[in-house]
Amino acid sequence: MKKLTFSLWIVLLCAIALFASGVEDNELFKDEEFKVLYDDEAIHDRITYNMRKSLNLDVDGCILVPGEKRSLQECGFNVTAKTFFIIHGWTTSGMFESWMQKLVSAMMQREPESNVVIVDWLPMAHQLYPDAVNHTHQVGLSVATTINWLQAEQQLPLQNVHLIGYSLGAHVAGYAGTSVRGTIGRITGLDPAGPMFEGVGDDKRLSSGDADFVDILHTYTREALGISIGIQQPIGDIDIYPNGGDVQPGCSLREMLTSTAGGSFMDVIKCEHERAVLLFVDSLMNNEYMSLAYQCTDPERFKKGICLSCRKNRCNNIGYNTKKMRKRSNCKMYLKTRAVTPFGGIHYQMKMHVFNRKQADDADPTFHVKLYGAHNDTDDLHVDFPNKVGLNLTNTFLVFTEDDIGDLLKIRLSWEGANESLGSIWKNMKKSFWSWNRTGTPIKQVLEVRRIRVKCGETQKKFTFCAQDPSVTEISPGQVITYVKCRDGWEVKPSKKRLHNL
Ligand SMILES: *[C@@H]1O[C@H](CO)[C@@H](O)[C@H](O)[C@H]1NC(C)=O
Ligand SMILES: *[C@@H]1O[C@H](CO)[C@@H](O)[C@H](O)[C@H]1NC(C)=O
Ligand SMILES: *[C@@H]1O[C@H](CO)[C@@H](O)[C@H](O)[C@H]1NC(C)=O
Ligand SMILES: *[C@@H]1O[C@H](CO)[C@@H](O)[C@H](O)[C@H]1NC(C)=O
Ligand SMILES: *[C@@H]1O[C@H](CO)[C@@H](O)[C@H](O)[C@H]1NC(C)=O
Ligand SMILES: *[C@@H]1O[C@H](CO)[C@@H](O)[C@H](O)[C@H]1NC(C)=O
Repeated sequence: MKKLTFSLWIVLLCAIALFASGVEDNELFKDEEFKVLYDDEAIHDRITYNMRKSLNLDVDGCILVPGEKRSLQECGFNVTAKTFFIIHGWTTSGMFESWMQKLVSAMMQREPESNVVIVDWLPMAHQLYPDAVNHTHQVGLSVATTINWLQAEQQLPLQNVHLIGYSLGAHVAGYAGTSVRGTIGRITGLDPAGPMFEGVGDDKRLSSGDADFVDILHTYTREALGISIGIQQPIGDIDIYPNGGDVQPGCSLREMLTSTAGGSFMDVIKCEHERAVLLFVDSLMNNEYMSLAYQCTDPERFKKGICLSCRKNRCNNIGYNTKKMRKRSNCKMYLKTRAVTPFGGIHYQMKMHVFNRKQADDADPTFHVKLYGAHNDTDDLHVDFPNKVGLNLTNTFLVFTEDDIGDLLKIRLSWEGANESLGSIWKNMKKSFWSWNRTGTPIKQVLEVRRIRVKCGETQKKFTFCAQDPSVTEISPGQVITYVKCRDGWEVKPSKKRLHNL
């Protein structure tokens, strides 16, 4: 068992060693001087509170020195304003990564009067990962001590303090929150680190009790060899899993390889892990257009489009705009995003009853929908049924559009035909898409869809769409049906009589 754990560590460390781009070969292992043990005084020299005065990180900030009142005046610390502590994670380069600049400048633009302080613990984070993990506790204590001092010295209201921690930094924020005198207003965990934190007790990682409100964005929860870079389990009051928390659009190996920056497997890891920060930055910059996340018990149900409700606080904004809800620990929320900023899109829940009319008992149709809106139309969007389409049943599915096309006016449903793609021919051959009768002539499969019921997550509006031509409700491979809005709101509960007529 020990051996296994050890070899997993080797794999992980090798992977993570290349984490940051621009790392010199073996730099991580050369830094012998960091391996010395620190006494408490030395620790204070290794943690710097860098208060930002300029958007440009290359311009030195002002250093807040805990215990030195003069530094507060010099830095222009405003006790009545909000205070943000931004806490970085583990580093292999020993330098700030590029996200830091983006986050700091977005924060300062959104909250110009606030105090934005970078907790710089780079020397303690630039270590072998397990050593950096070991330091999170001490760094958290240091942050707590600093906040205690601001409280005592300046009557800083703790409710105005917001800690934002990325990766290992999230757990530093957790330790700070538990150690501080009183309760911090808010902690945001941006893809909190998973290795050595997954499954451990509340007191050894960031948890919902560490602040009045703890919100988490999970973007890299894909597991390899039993390890996930970002923590998988929900640990906050609200845990948001964009794109299910695993595959982030724009971060696939193929996309990274074709990107201008070049790309490698490590860039994929970095892309998905850092996506949490970029989504947070997005929420600071695009606050007039907020991305919503929806509460759901699991990602599979969300993919089916079942969870788009906003009733009873079941939906929330993501990132900085997340609203505090009455204590509700480990509330899992989901959304889909675009690949680039602005990341938000529009979610639609669609329901359609699919009748088997002819020869379609084992049909596995590939459907697309094209949406026509008041402002724009979408391309043909593949309808993703996690399981096969249920025949003679109502099927629910999720449609995500990257652009807001305005009020939905028309829906075109198409069944991918035999002549449309080689892949589908093959699939359909295998699934005996065509049945041959005795004369060897193919028989057409026929399904019927009379109406599509739609609910938009972002507007919470519901509409029913009926076949534009009431006589055209049957569909075969290669054919389309067009639906137009036929009634406001959902169809009211069908009476027994009407059910018979369906
Ligand atoms: C301090 O912050 C408060 C609240 O944001 C603001 O009203 C006040 O003008 C600020 N003071 C200074 C000197 O910037
Ligand atoms: C953490 O560091 C302390 C000294 O700072 C050391 O005594 C302890 O063994 C370390 N723990 C681990 C798990 O490395
Ligand atoms: C669906 O209903 C049709 C006729 O109403 C019937 O022929 C067919 O076998 C049913 N298919 C399934 C999968 O239940
Ligand atoms: C409509 O959508 C297309 C992509 O589907 C996009 O290129 C175009 O800019 C959009 N037009 C407007 C007015 O938004
Ligand atoms: C076989 O297909 C031909 C042509 O579509 C049709 O005329 C014939 O009735 C079919 N036979 C059976 C047994 O379905
Ligand atoms: C085949 O492709 C043509 C042109 O793209 C299209 O009109 C037709 O509906 C498709 N399907 C079948 C089954 O022929």
